[in-house]
Amino acid sequence: MNTLIVYATKHGATERAAKKLSEKLNGNVDCFNLKKNIPESMDGYERVVLGTSVYAGKLHKEFVEFIKKNEEKLKKKEYAFFVCCGFETKAETYLRENFSDEIVDGALFVKYFGQEIVWKKMKLYERAAMIMVAKVKKDVHDIRDKEIEEAAEILDAV
Ligand SMILES: Cc1cc2nc3c(=O)[nH]c(=O)nc-3n(C[C@H](O)[C@H](O)[C@H](O)COP(=O)(O)O)c2cc1C
Repeated sequence: MNTLIVYATKHGATERAAKKLSEKLNGNVDCFNLKKNIPESMDGYERVVLGTSVYAGKLHKEFVEFIKKNEEKLKKKEYAFFVCCGFETKAETYLRENFSDEIVDGALFVKYFGQEIVWKKMKLYERAAMIMVAKVKKDVHDIRDKEIEEAAEILDAV
């Protein structure tokens, strides 16, 4: 079984979650950070996992473009979404704001994999935004291993 994991990250939390998932999955797993590399093709992958973080209510444009470009191909495969963001209850909403119900509903799962806030990685404007919106002033390390474990179990059962 070949699995493709594509993700978009700004400060690395989504990448860490993607790598954790890749280590738990059976078979061959290839990971692509869409901000650096875009896979030439999805041919040969039976499963595709798509992960993104969220900034100011928006998904990364590379992530949105990849899915819109490959929507028809994705529909013919087993695919799943994960989101790393601050507002757990909005994870699926962020996807629905960008993609058709058909593509979201057709996924094996939409999972919230948690989040990380690392102040030393953030630009000044990001720190200001974080204080205003989330009232958070400290680092947060909350990547959800249990959710990642459950995601791997669902994928490996396919
Ligand atoms: C400036 C800033 C804006 C953010 N905006 C949102 C947001 O609108 N909604 C949300 O749920 N999370 C938001 N977050 C939280 C990030 O999505 C979260 O920290 C995520 O783990 C970042 O993942 P990454 O390191 O892979 O980019 C924001 C974080 C920062 C620093």
